[in-house]
Amino acid sequence: MADAPSTPLRPACDPATELDARFRAAIHAVAGRDADPAIRASGNAKFGDYQMNAAMALAKELGKNPRELADAILKATDLAGIASKCEVAGPGFINITLERAVLESSLASLAASSTFGVPPATDPHAVVIDLCGVNVAKQMHVGHLRATIIGDSLARVFERLGRKVWRENHLGDWGLPIAMTLAKLIREKRDFARLTLDDLNAAYRGAQKETATDDLDAAREFRCGPHRLAELELQYEPARAAMEDAKKTLIRLQSGDAEIVRLWERLIEVTMEQVYDAARTLHCKLGAENNRGESFFRDRLAGVVDAFAKSGVAKSDRGAMVVPFADRERPLLIQKSDGGFLYATTDLAAVRFRTFELDGDLVVYVVDARQRDHFKDVFDAARLVGWSKTKDGTEATLVHLGFGAVLGADKKPLKTRSGENFTLKDLLDEACERGAAEVMRRAADPNAPTHGLAESELRAIGAAVGIAAVKYADLSGDLTKDYVFDLDRMVAFEGDTGPYLQYAHARIASILSKSGETAEAIARAPFALAEPAERALALHILRYPQMVLDVGRSLETNRVGLYLRTLAELFNAFYQSCPVLKADDAAVRLTRLRLCAVARAVLADGLSLYGIVAPERM
Ligand code: ARG
Repeated sequence: MADAPSTPLRPACDPATELDARFRAAIHAVAGRDADPAIRASGNAKFGDYQMNAAMALAKELGKNPRELADAILKATDLAGIASKCEVAGPGFINITLERAVLESSLASLAASSTFGVPPATDPHAVVIDLCGVNVAKQMHVGHLRATIIGDSLARVFERLGRKVWRENHLGDWGLPIAMTLAKLIREKRDFARLTLDDLNAAYRGAQKETATDDLDAAREFRCGPHRLAELELQYEPARAAMEDAKKTLIRLQSGDAEIVRLWERLIEVTMEQVYDAARTLHCKLGAENNRGESFFRDRLAGVVDAFAKSGVAKSDRGAMVVPFADRERPLLIQKSDGGFLYATTDLAAVRFRTFELDGDLVVYVVDARQRDHFKDVFDAARLVGWSKTKDGTEATLVHLGFGAVLGADKKPLKTRSGENFTLKDLLDEACERGAAEVMRRAADPNAPTHGLAESELRAIGAAVGIAAVKYADLSGDLTKDYVFDLDRMVAFEGDTGPYLQYAHARIASILSKSGETAEAIARAPFALAEPAERALALHILRYPQMVLDVGRSLETNRVGLYLRTLAELFNAFYQSCPVLKADDAAVRLTRLRLCAVARAVLADGLSLYGIVAPERM
């Protein structure tokens, strides 16, 4: 039966799905209405695998005794072929123990699924992720690092969910500051073929300084005498000339002057080389195909203002165009009185493009939390004018996922020792360095699986560890909160870290390779989940697809980390209590290897949702 759009997707291989259906039917029969049975993992494995919690709340609503209601629901529930034991406990829980065969066949179907049991998406619309968002001629900073890592991870989650995903890099590649930089570089007769990002950065800052007329502006504002003004005007003549030059350059750029456009494209190229480099190092899928920056929308801005004016959503205010809101003072400025357009105007054009042309019914803006007001205004304005709808008129969800800042050990925004802002490259280099140091230190131990590997191999593993450390720290917490960037802690193989999970993965990989069995032979072994630790591990593995669905719904990437940590812990518990390589019985050995193989595959797939590679040896 096809899912109605309103019923949430549920993974077929998760036994909770079937339990939900059976208890839902029973509740309907007993209470005469539909209610969520609230099937949860059991709080204590001694009492069962799952518990059904709905009776308590339902009894309250119906004015009944919860235990009696639970009894009635249990009596009405068809448990054939799913649960081996079910009983009412405490104030009215129902504890449920699955039939072992159900657990085994569910696990087999997850193992056979190319999506690890994640059901295929039924929503034909696209998901749009606004990520990275670097600015041309400026060094990428840690904020852009977060926007890239988080955006890429969410994109991976939606890809795993089978959705069409657009990764949109809304580059700051248009406008006066860029024209100022360009004009300065041209004036200085720089060789554009040789420019580096540092050169662009310096020119950007230089151009800002060169054109600043702060004292003159102040003098005008405070109506200084004509003598003083004339003096200042003379002093600021070069600044005025530089600004004049920049404006001319901007006009040439806007009108498509081939020579200027070529030089402008070069600025983008120089900026983006470093971004692509960082994305490669970070295992983030981001390339030129994702660039749809401010310049892309330049010819649509007049149309934006037009549409807002025609619909009456915007009105003219002292020569400017603004969108007023019913619930707040602050209006949204979409055109300045000199006719110029703003960051918000471009974002309105982008919302329209993403919902209507890309057909996105979910658009997630992974952008610094400080832009909260901007997005609130832009989204509300888009809704007022009816631009938040997809092609078929579906109301799209527009979300600003505003992430927190990255702090140094002193709890202040991250700075280098000399007080400079950390550039992204410094940061990633240092992470790879630390990762390599940790891997090499461990490889010195003659018993380490990495002992004797070539230095280049150790360095490659070290880089993977360092990057995992950074990404995990970024993704495994509450995204909206600031976090302290502490490489020593992040790179450790113990604790709540990315390397801990990579290490857990490498350990399972080494068990599998030491077994001497081929992957095919292992995959043919039937599951035999006899021991409590095997059962606990299997039950957790079966929750994987639901966890991925939950991340898609909540955008809480930390759920992946939490899930994987528990997976690693349950694996360790299993491995301690159930001999695998040394199992006496050949069939037991093989079936336990099969459980190891599934755990490894799920761990690797989970790490891939973070874009973290899982080395075979560490
Ligand atoms: N370039 C902007 C910045 O560095 C970020 C762009 C975010 N995306 C957007 N659609 N406004 O602040």
